[in-house]
Amino acid sequence: MASNRTLTILKPDCVLKGKEGEVIAQIQKAGFKIIAMKMVRLTPATAGGFYEVHKERPFYGELCEFMSSGPCVPIILEKENAVADFRKLIGATDPAEAEEGTIRKLYADSKAENIVHGSDSDENAQIESAYFFAKSEEVANLG
Ligand code: CMP
Repeated sequence: MASNRTLTILKPDCVLKGKEGEVIAQIQKAGFKIIAMKMVRLTPATAGGFYEVHKERPFYGELCEFMSSGPCVPIILEKENAVADFRKLIGATDPAEAEEGTIRKLYADSKAENIVHGSDSDENAQIESAYFFAKSEEVANLG
């Protein structure tokens, strides 16, 4: 069964452009509820830990440098079929290939600076959420 949570990060380019509010509004309009949210400044090492799975990729160094270049906003989101629906909402990794109307198509400049992260599986959503948030920081019941 699909999990109902995913982890997004509004990346440093999103914060630098002052688009956090617009992007969060689009996410909420698409039916996602915010379960936890904070603003953090990653170091190259903490960015590297988050993207450990990409350690051998040629863009890893650039990715860690970019993700630690300014503040970012990790958010745990809840919705039925959250992982797949959120990836649909943000569009392809490369904004040039993203569908019209998707968040990356609207706001991102390049594959490296692509505005938002979205978990690619239920398992990674859980691992990535735990990277940024203690259980005590998640809203257990939205009431
Ligand atoms: P994200 O969804 O955060 O997951 C891994 C990130 O690596 C991805 O978004 C991109 O920002 C980045 N990335 C993927 N491919 C490349 C690439 N070819 N060059 C630079 N960055 C990349």
